[in-house]
Amino acid sequence: MRALTFEPGKKGTLKVEEIPDPERKNGDLLVQGVALGICGTDRELESADYGWAPPGKSRMVIGHESLGRVLEVPDGSAYSVGDLVVGVVRRPDPVPCGACAHGEFDMCRNGRYTERGIKEIDGYASERWVVEAGYAVKLDPSLESVGMLVEPTSVVAKAWDHIERIGARAWFEPRTVLVTGAGPIGLLAALLGVQRGLEVHVLDRVAEGRKPALVADLGATYHAASNLDDFHDDPPDIIVECTGVGELVLASMTTTAAAGVVCLAGLASQGRTHRVDGGLINRDIVLENDAVFGSVNANLRHFRAAADALAKADLGWLERLITRRVPLERAEDAFAHGDDDVKVVIDLTV
Ligand code: BGC
Repeated sequence: MRALTFEPGKKGTLKVEEIPDPERKNGDLLVQGVALGICGTDRELESADYGWAPPGKSRMVIGHESLGRVLEVPDGSAYSVGDLVVGVVRRPDPVPCGACAHGEFDMCRNGRYTERGIKEIDGYASERWVVEAGYAVKLDPSLESVGMLVEPTSVVAKAWDHIERIGARAWFEPRTVLVTGAGPIGLLAALLGVQRGLEVHVLDRVAEGRKPALVADLGATYHAASNLDDFHDDPPDIIVECTGVGELVLASMTTTAAAGVVCLAGLASQGRTHRVDGGLINRDIVLENDAVFGSVNANLRHFRAAADALAKADLGWLERLITRRVPLERAEDAFAHGDDDVKVVIDLTV
């Protein structure tokens, strides 16, 4: 079968190649790959900024935003042939740490977790793949064209879950949320904010193209800006920072209402320095009881919440997030990111 593989730690090594069919072990599902979403992490893997090969191997199959159709199931399985499924990204560390032992492998404490397509386990960019039934999530059949959005949605479902848990430390009835960044993660975070009945604002430096329209069609307000000046007079209750841009990360920490919650969900590149007034940041956070926290990855509960959220969303709007679909044979084209691209998807069936 064909698969998209790369050599972690080495730039420019992506290629579509023939590899042996996966072997289904007891308890696994055999799945036909339907599509795969590409994100910033995949681009980092491609440019050798991130990623670890499986022990004893130099190449691995990329891909963690999966979508497939079940081909074979174990006896007595809750899955049926033909079910639409996605595979979970992370697996618990082998110890396991307390969090992994409790199914919260997204909160792994010792860093020895593994991740499909990213850290030490083959990913989902192949014509067929296997997944342990306990790490698969069944989707509503209506999500066939957009199901690869479940994984990025799981990441923001976790962010929202933790925002609400942190908020619940005291009386919490948030009214407004600001999402910085109108890429896939930002737009999906905004969707989940709208589904919670919040007044949603989305900020992105792009002033034209499909992002403003996607935000408006969600019933949210778009701000074309590179700073948070618009929000000084009426700061939001919650910020979901999805850009990883240093200036916005720092500004978000001092631009919430009292008892504000700031979730850092974007990843910055290292090496740029900023002059900051540490005392001002300290005073703002302490005197307002604010909370700033980071969020990565997602556990099974978040994948299920993501699948439910997408099934409730407007399908036409979700389809507009997918701005390009490229066949597996031309998979490399998916790694170039145009300014107006939101989500680029590899079609594993052609
Ligand atoms: C994935 C996460 C993963 C993270 C770091 C993200 O792109 O969505 O599941 O934990 O990269 O590896």
